[in-house]
Amino acid sequence: MKFNVLTYGCQMNVHDSDWLIRAMESRGWKAVEESEANIFILNTCSVRDKPEQKVYNVLRRLGYLCTSPGDFVAVGGCVAQQIGEGFLERFPYVRLVFGSDGIVQAPQYLEELAVDHEKRLVLNDFLAQYPEREGGLANPNEELLPPGIGTIPGQAFVNIMQGCDNFCAYCIVPYTRGRQKSRLSSAIIDECRALVKSGVREITLLGQNVNSFGMDKNGSDLSFAQLLYKIAEIEGLERVRFTTSHPKDIAPEVIKAFGELPNLCPHLHLPVQSGSDNILKKMGRKYDRARYLGIVEGLKEVCPEIALTTDIIVGFPGETDEDFEQTMDIMERVRFESSFSFKYSDRPGVAALKMMPKVPEDVAQKRLTRLQERQKHITRECLEELDGNDMIVLLERNSKWQEDGGVAWRGKDPGGRVVNIFIEGIEGHLPLGGKLVKAKIIEAKNHSLVGVKVGDLW
Ligand code: SAH
Ligand code: SF4
Ligand code: F3S
Repeated sequence: MKFNVLTYGCQMNVHDSDWLIRAMESRGWKAVEESEANIFILNTCSVRDKPEQKVYNVLRRLGYLCTSPGDFVAVGGCVAQQIGEGFLERFPYVRLVFGSDGIVQAPQYLEELAVDHEKRLVLNDFLAQYPEREGGLANPNEELLPPGIGTIPGQAFVNIMQGCDNFCAYCIVPYTRGRQKSRLSSAIIDECRALVKSGVREITLLGQNVNSFGMDKNGSDLSFAQLLYKIAEIEGLERVRFTTSHPKDIAPEVIKAFGELPNLCPHLHLPVQSGSDNILKKMGRKYDRARYLGIVEGLKEVCPEIALTTDIIVGFPGETDEDFEQTMDIMERVRFESSFSFKYSDRPGVAALKMMPKVPEDVAQKRLTRLQERQKHITRECLEELDGNDMIVLLERNSKWQEDGGVAWRGKDPGGRVVNIFIEGIEGHLPLGGKLVKAKIIEAKNHSLVGVKVGDLW
């Protein structure tokens, strides 16, 4: 069968789609361009209204591509969990809906639906335990690859938990991903070991709230800090990262790890959401700006070069000009290297839906524009400070920028910054993705760095 997967949303959705593609390919299906496909899988995000609306637009478009009786669409991810049956009712060519836990069974049912053209079903039940996933495609040594491998050579993502228990007032994720379920640490460690054995050099541990790993198990398994140390210990693992962290749960041992573990990358994505205590309280975030700034201070003490990035919401119900100034102020104090910032968007069923007064659209937009302009400058200044430094870059793919006499590659430094490196005397077709190289930074651009190779590739 020829299939196409279209993905919206966060890293977890990207990882889910990567897994599903490999699971289907290992069953003999072929991932193709949309125009050649018979089966369309749409992995959706519901975090704001815009991505949800996009799903309905894309579905209408895919309807025109379902021309033969066997053609159909499968809708997965957070909007699928939220709407469920509604997709079957509204769109005759949607024949499978799978939610956050249902994805594990999706490969088997996709196969059944490809044969039985009458069948339609919804896989939306939440399970009591973290559902383990099958491996995919064989590697050259004929072993099945573990589920974590994605599409970037040398890098892998490993789920350590599913769901979220925090119910921040604005957020739909606890409803779409369900209650927090930590995966067994032994399964995580086995998967990481197998990935390193298959050539992976960088692992990112994934979860909505990784710092509360194990808290749903009453101490019967490792804490997040203990898990992190165990994974960092795996021989041959060059880099480890994790995302996302909630400030309320970050333990002193995790902060300490940034000073102790040589392969823990000096980068932390720590969503602040707002700089105002008043708004943080209404959001139900359970920390205040003093606690947030204390964490930042602790991190910079043990790891002065740490790159901090964040998420910010502007225009949360009741946000005043003064509250917003507090957010601008915390940006100056922390100097985030980059941030994802959004206007507050009403979501069905969340507590903030009923909170008043709502901030007018034009006021929220003005605040967002001002914040993003300021962030642009800070990002640029942070990158300029790195000019002249040497750093190790993990290469990913050919860079868009090319010159005669060599090839430019794009990769990431330990801080997670994009670095473009010109490598002289190398031909374009050489598979350098997944290789490490020492580079000297010679220029800072708006969102990336430019470097030259100063050591051997390994
Ligand atoms: N688990 C992560 C974030 C998950 S959602 C955490 O706790 O930080 C990703 C980001 O989307 C959030 O950090 C938040 O900034 C944003 N977001 C979530 N719900 C939103 C809403 N209703 N309106 C606007 N932004 C939202
Ligand atoms: Fe949403 Fe809050 Fe959970 Fe993050 S911690 S997923 S923002 S409810
Ligand atoms: Fe979106 Fe679901 Fe991720 S709502 S941000 S895809 S957890």
